[in-house]
Amino acid sequence: MMRTIVLFGSLILLFGCSQNVENVGSGETLDSAPKPVADSNSRLSSSAAGSAPFMGGGNGGPPDPQMMLNKAYFMQHFVAALTSLPSNKNPNPKWSSPLKDPSGGKVKCGDCHTKADMSGLPQQEDSPAIEKLHENKEFMVDLMTKWVAKLNNPEFGAKEKLKQEVTCTTCHAKDPREE
Ligand code: HEC
Ligand code: HEC
Repeated sequence: MMRTIVLFGSLILLFGCSQNVENVGSGETLDSAPKPVADSNSRLSSSAAGSAPFMGGGNGGPPDPQMMLNKAYFMQHFVAALTSLPSNKNPNPKWSSPLKDPSGGKVKCGDCHTKADMSGLPQQEDSPAIEKLHENKEFMVDLMTKWVAKLNNPEFGAKEKLKQEVTCTTCHAKDPREE
């Protein structure tokens, strides 16, 4: 339980640095942004209270840490689906990795999240809340559409690792928006 509380504390910290995910092209570097602690040991020992000033500091009010963890779950699965058979309901039967080099040239969290180090987040387990989101087509389509757009955007690091443009049917047998 303590671990969860502390983890949420560091997530809020992360969020403080990353609430402008859409603006990561602005030229701000990791050096100029407050740095979340990357390795999990110091993350776990850092004080949750220390992150309080970050709460609600942005335009959208306090972030919801549980929603961030839920999104992290999906992010981890989307990224994995670039190198192994996707875990969606009806995967493309002819799926193959869209990466030029699926072993050495993997897409990393930091290709899109340039302000906060998301790669330090532990692997998220499935939960009833996540199942519910997975069933929520509107939520999934919105999340996936933004994600795929960034993947194909040459301003971000993932694009040059791709063999070809990624579309919904790279991973899904049918475009889920048309189902
Ligand atoms: C191809 C680009 C891309 C990659 C790679 C990527 N993300 Fe994301 N991520 C996004 C986008 C776009 C959003 C905003 C989606 C939204 O909130 O509507 C997002 C949102 C998130 C959020 C929710 C909090 C926030 O800042 O909006 C978390 C947590 C997250 N990503 C974690 C990860 C982790 C962990 C990885 C690596 C396993 C990862 N992401 C890889 C594009 C990416
Ligand atoms: C790189 C592979 C990949 C691409 C490209 C992709 N998806 Fe997905 N999608 C996934 C994975 C993996 C999941 C399941 C996540 C999980 O494990 O819960 C998923 C789940 C979904 C779901 C929930 C239902 C289901 O089939 O599991 C919807 C809806 C969805 N994606 C829509 C889209 C849309 C719309 C696009 C194009 C804009 C898209 N996806 C592109 C990998 C992908």
